[in-house]
Amino acid sequence: MNNISTGTFPPDQIPVIKDWNWWSDFLQREYYGNPDEEPAWENVARSIARQLNIGPGTDVLDLGSGCGEVVMRLAMLGARAVGVERSEPLVIHCARIAAGRGVVAQFIAADMFSFRPDAPFDVVLSLNTSFGYGSDQQNREFIQNISRWLKPGGKLYLDTFTADNAESFGTWSDPLAGGTFVVENSWDPEQSTMISHPAWIAPDQETVYYADRPEVVRLYLRQEIEEMMVSGGLKPQRLTRAMGRRFRQEDTDMHTTWIAEKEV
Ligand SMILES: C[S@@+](CC[C@H](N)C(=O)[O-])C[C@H]1O[C@@H](n2cnc3c(N)ncnc32)[C@H](O)[C@@H]1O
Repeated sequence: MNNISTGTFPPDQIPVIKDWNWWSDFLQREYYGNPDEEPAWENVARSIARQLNIGPGTDVLDLGSGCGEVVMRLAMLGARAVGVERSEPLVIHCARIAAGRGVVAQFIAADMFSFRPDAPFDVVLSLNTSFGYGSDQQNREFIQNISRWLKPGGKLYLDTFTADNAESFGTWSDPLAGGTFVVENSWDPEQSTMISHPAWIAPDQETVYYADRPEVVRLYLRQEIEEMMVSGGLKPQRLTRAMGRRFRQEDTDMHTTWIAEKEV
């Protein structure tokens, strides 16, 4: 990841505007779901499986499942794994990849705020800051809903950036799909939102893809998230080791991960 300075964009650029349906598919397939990332995903899935005792027959729901690697890897361990993701093209891609690998996993194109499962789960996952995409009311109801969807003794595994140590990542760039991916990030402490404007300079160095609107993710304080969990009947426990990360997660980190157990 490199810091970039102004002047990165070609002067005679041809702009192409795409919605988040397109961006989620593009970024998750090409960036996070890049084959180079497979060992890292393997590490994440093994760590989650160990901490949650996921194995044959465990019912797992991943909300905002992105490139689907965790869903597929937990399914390979025998879990009945379901991923919910808003981008339909991404869901079609994940289902194709799973079929190609001979993995039985289910991917559903749905908005996680209106999605309603028809059976309860042992484990619900919300990984890598997939929490906070809704309005404040939606985000709060979301935790209550998850609690309702868990079996007694079931567990929510929530991994997210929090507002306690939020910082602006500024503007950074990375090579992507033969071109250059550029993100301008800012942190609004008043609204407690992280705002991201992505752009992709295509390999022709002239065409630049933009999003039709910035992505806005609401971050909460750790204490607020724990209050939401408790009021939903979940008992939160913060993890110091999570997601297969090499570092111990301290209160000074942006990342926080919980296992929150539903009362029996
Ligand atoms: C930060 S990414 C994390 C993806 C994945 N959990 C991971 O660990 O890499 C958030 C994901 O949530 C999806 N998403 C955002 N809002 C959503 C919504 N309302 N319903 C379903 N998925 C949503 C995005 O498309 C994106 O794939």
